[in-house]
Amino acid sequence: MASNNNSTPPGPEQQIQTLKAHLGELVGTTTHEFNNILMTIINYAKLGLRHRDDATRQKAFEKILAAGNRAARITNSILGMARNRTAGQEPTDLVELAENTLLLMERELNKYRIAVEKHFQPIPKAQVNANQIQQVLLNLLINARQAMPTGGRLIIKLGYDRDQDMIELGVRDNGCGIPAEVLPRIFDPFFSTKTGPDATGKGGTGLGLSLCREIIEAHRGRIRVDSAPGKGTMFTIKLPPARAATASKPAPLPGLCLPSPSAPAQSPT
Ligand SMILES: Nc1ncnc2c1ncn2[C@@H]1O[C@H](COP(=O)(O)OP(=O)(O)OP(=O)(O)O)[C@@H](O)[C@H]1O
Ligand SMILES: [Mg+2]
Repeated sequence: MASNNNSTPPGPEQQIQTLKAHLGELVGTTTHEFNNILMTIINYAKLGLRHRDDATRQKAFEKILAAGNRAARITNSILGMARNRTAGQEPTDLVELAENTLLLMERELNKYRIAVEKHFQPIPKAQVNANQIQQVLLNLLINARQAMPTGGRLIIKLGYDRDQDMIELGVRDNGCGIPAEVLPRIFDPFFSTKTGPDATGKGGTGLGLSLCREIIEAHRGRIRVDSAPGKGTMFTIKLPPARAATASKPAPLPGLCLPSPSAPAQSPT
């Protein structure tokens, strides 16, 4: 399989160009974030309408509230021009996070006849911002789904690499794959081979993977891709476990910097 660890961001020649590029990227990234949040809200609202039992509805409302609060935090962050602040990271069960994210995508994956295999090994908690890692996983799942328009197989792996002391999250599809000449560019902001949003309204901005890389690197993690055209693609993410990372300060999230989760969201009066 051809592989690419990640690409070096292009170095802008003049300061003004850098500023313009950052502004444009911030606007684009934020729009993408809002789309993902709306998707969360819409999907959980549908889940709540579909299942009438109290437990499912309670969960749906909690998720909708959490997504709404997150959207409010992003708005506050942009309005306040809050740059270079640290994003809140806490010990998180990635198995639970993966299960929840799959639940969100369940209907869409069924619709496109994609069979999901879960290979979850016992792993320590990861030191992460759960919302951000869920965005990463959603982006990878949507890309995988779009790479298998006539159905296929999706494998999600979670494991722990004892030697490197890193948690490994793998997302593998047996879709169209990525040509070698395209591979070095897939993490570039706005790089896309898609012509526009698909029937589900997703795809085509080219911000998904650049956002994934930004988030993973802000967690002191790594993301890599292996792909074979016509056979499939595998994304592997490595993240530090909670106990190793708590000793060090969380890294600032470049580009889009969210305030700490303790910041109260505005509620209507
Ligand atoms: N699992 C995959 N299989 C095949 N190609 C992929 C896969 N994931 C990403 N790609 C390729 O990488 C490109 C960039 O992906 P990225 O997620 O950044 O943007 P996008 O999916 O085109 O748009 P969006 O910003 O809406 O996510 C895609 O256009 C596609 O060509
Ligand atoms: Mg994408």
